[in-house]
Amino acid sequence: MSVIEMRQIKREYRMDTKKSKRKQSEAVIVRALRGLDFSAEEGEFVSVMGPSGSGKSTLMNILGCLDKPTSGTYMLDGVETSTSSANTFAYIRNRKIGFVFQSFNLLSRTTALENVELPLFYRQKDKNDGKQRINLSRKEKAIAALREVGLENRMDHFPSQLSGGQQQRVAIARAMVNDPAFILADEPTGNLDTGMTLEIMGLFQQLNDMGKTIIMVTHEPELAAYTKRIITLRDGNLVSDCPVTERGNALSDLAKWKKDHLLLAEDI
Ligand SMILES: Nc1ncnc2c1ncn2[C@@H]1O[C@H](COP(=O)(O)OP(=O)(O)OP(=O)(O)O)[C@@H](O)[C@H]1O
Ligand SMILES: [Mg+2]
Repeated sequence: MSVIEMRQIKREYRMDTKKSKRKQSEAVIVRALRGLDFSAEEGEFVSVMGPSGSGKSTLMNILGCLDKPTSGTYMLDGVETSTSSANTFAYIRNRKIGFVFQSFNLLSRTTALENVELPLFYRQKDKNDGKQRINLSRKEKAIAALREVGLENRMDHFPSQLSGGQQQRVAIARAMVNDPAFILADEPTGNLDTGMTLEIMGLFQQLNDMGKTIIMVTHEPELAAYTKRIITLRDGNLVSDCPVTERGNALSDLAKWKKDHLLLAEDI
């Protein structure tokens, strides 16, 4: 079964413009997505590319159940989202999708552990969960997620006490803690230097090797080369969908980069 199955997705934005006092307002329709078909199976690692204005954010918002299409169908993990009620839609968003943003979006006065625990509070409403049991398992799950990203020894740090790469690791642990159907990452390394970028891409590759499904928007072909498949949007259409044939290994590139970087530092 596909994790994501989109059929003929259209998203139109209606813009009301009033040119002058005498003229009546006119509606302009922006066709941001024009009938897009896209499916992804479990275990895929997909890059979403395309020029500015091509519809990437619009697609990400729909994939992330932050927005519904004007028409078309979107099945997420076997559930049709476009006709779901507001409650179900929010439930799917909270439980089925792990978000990773360019700007990390961590709560600043909250420790790494508490940040990762946050999505698990939504679980409280689930049936058959005794409160005592949830409190215990919530912390355990958050610690396990931090361990997966190699940060169990930084649990009690606040975001300001962590490097950018470490903050993004916390965000990735938070995205994974609910064991979502897929991780949705929007330019996750946009605010990071080369070393930290390679570290994060290496972590994504490791998580993907463990079976996690990842969808990532990126402007950088070098980063897309670490994924397994690249889809490209143009003017609201999906214009290409290609497997990555010569896939890079981010951790070995990181090792090379460190070697060069350290040599350079010694030369100075
Ligand atoms: N809320 C909105 N109202 C009206 N038009 C919008 C809205 N959001 C996006 N658009 C339009 O839809 C089209 C696609 O926008 P989108 O933000 O999805 O592009 P993008 O590929 O993410 O671009 P970028 O790389 O610059 O982030 C653009 O023409 C944009 O102007
Ligand atoms: Mg965008």
